[in-house]
Amino acid sequence: MKILILWDIFGRTGRRMVEENIGALRTKYTPDFMIANSENITGGKWPIEKHVLAMKDLGFDVLTGGNHVFSNLKDSGSVFSDPESIQIRPANYLELREYPIPGKGWRIVEKNGQKLLVINVMSNVFMYDGLDNPFQSIDRILSGFTEKFDAIVVDFHRETTAELVNMAYFLDGRTSVVYGTHTHVQTNDERIFPKGTGMITDLGMTGPLWSSIGHTFESRLPQLLTGTKLFGPKAEQVVGEGVLTGIFVEIREGRCVHIEKIRIQE
Ligand SMILES: [Fe+2]
Repeated sequence: MKILILWDIFGRTGRRMVEENIGALRTKYTPDFMIANSENITGGKWPIEKHVLAMKDLGFDVLTGGNHVFSNLKDSGSVFSDPESIQIRPANYLELREYPIPGKGWRIVEKNGQKLLVINVMSNVFMYDGLDNPFQSIDRILSGFTEKFDAIVVDFHRETTAELVNMAYFLDGRTSVVYGTHTHVQTNDERIFPKGTGMITDLGMTGPLWSSIGHTFESRLPQLLTGTKLFGPKAEQVVGEGVLTGIFVEIREGRCVHIEKIRIQE
C-alpha cells in the first residue's frame, strides 16, 4: 500500500499549494490513499465544510486535526455531523454521556481491497492538561478493534519531540506509521523502527513560507517582545510564496518498508 501524507495545510496559500502540486505528486507516487492535516486550512483555523469537501474532491481519504478542533464550530456543517466525513479530530477528549464531543477520533477507509485505519490523538504536554493520556488512549483504541487492517496510521498532534519518538517505540510493530504534527517545522529524522513502524517527529506545514507558522510576523512579534497579547494585532494569515511538506510511505503486510520526506518550496 502506498500512502501520500501532506502536512498542516495552512489557509489560502496552503490550499493553493495542494491544488497546484497534487497532480504531479500523484503522478510521481501513485498513492493508494491520501491523508492530510487540516486544522489550519480555513484561514489558520479549523476547516469549514467547503474546504473539507474540496479536499475530498482532490482525492483525500482522511483529514486529521489538532488543538484548533472546535474553532469554527458554527460553520462546521457536515464536517462533524456526516458519518462519512473525511475529517477526524483528536480521539482523546474526555467524553461523557451528558457532554458528547462532536466528530470522531479515527476513520477506516476501504479501497481496492485494502483497508486503512487512521487515528488522531493529541498530547497533554504544553497543550491541554485535561486530555486523556494519549499513550493509554491509543492503546485502548487499538485493542478495541478485532478486525485486521492492511495499514494503521497515527497522527500524534504534540509539541515536544521526545513524546513522538517514545510513541513510535510504544507502537512499534502495532502500527505502520506514526508522525507528529503541530510545530509546522519538518524534521529530518524519518526512519523505520525495528518492528516496522515508520516515523517522523514532525511533518511540517503546507502554507506560506515567509510567515510565523502561517501568520504575519507583525501580528506575532509584539507578544514575543512584551510577553503579553496586549499590543498585537489579531493573528493574520500570510498569502504569498508557499512551501509544501509531507511524506510518502510504502506499507507491506502492515509494516513500513519505505518512508520519504517531501518538500516543495517556491
Ligand atoms: Fe496544532
